[in-house]
Amino acid sequence: MRAEQVRKLIVAIDGPAGAGKSTVAKRVAKEMGYTYMDTGAMYRAFAWRVMKEGLDLKNDGALRKALRDTRIELAERDGRAQVLLNGTDVSEWIRTPELSQMASRVSTSKIVRERMVELQREMGSKGGVVAEGRDIGTVVFPNAEVKIYLDASSPERARRRFEELRSRGDRVDMAGTRGEMEERDRRDRERDVAPLRPAEDALVIDSTVVDVDSVVERIMEEIKRKISLIH
Ligand code: DC
Repeated sequence: MRAEQVRKLIVAIDGPAGAGKSTVAKRVAKEMGYTYMDTGAMYRAFAWRVMKEGLDLKNDGALRKALRDTRIELAERDGRAQVLLNGTDVSEWIRTPELSQMASRVSTSKIVRERMVELQREMGSKGGVVAEGRDIGTVVFPNAEVKIYLDASSPERARRRFEELRSRGDRVDMAGTRGEMEERDRRDRERDVAPLRPAEDALVIDSTVVDVDSVVERIMEEIKRKISLIH
């Protein structure tokens, strides 16, 4: 079969913080020649604006107005994923622990979620995307051909997040990182709108003691299996 005859799929990867979603999603996107869609970065970008402008999350009118004039783009530059907010590259500013908490809080808003989901569906309308987040397989793309729920134990996820922040030069401590991560997970799992949970038809992968290569390999197998069923 010629490459152009193969329909481009949607690959949804959900799971809690520190499960390895970004690393794995980027690798799978590269192997497939698909677009990598970091939906968490979109919530983070909008949260950055909320924080900068001191917007009140309970003020629906103000949120709607801000969302109307917010343009979020996911791009790639020199092989690195970039997030643009109204044309400004905010990629480096949105990865702090403070912004993680803010993004989690902002993402409980139904108004914000509706807009983000709309944008994400537009971006994925032609298929050929690997999208990572919390509600990709359940809400954004319920018809995604491949759904993965990537998990790992809480101590292991905290360790990964801690290493990631430390390698960026952030001054963090392990107990604080774990506490913040668990608070965020709880909020993401318990919110009313689109809470984090595995889709019924998701393949659940526990990456606690499995290395990245093996997780990527398992997902690639699943993608190939789906492609062979479709064609
Ligand atoms: O994946 P991340 O850690 O960059 O996401 C930051 C926050 O954004 C996360 O705590 C919850 C929210 N989020 C969400 O609610 N839905 C998504 N699809 C992606 C992220």
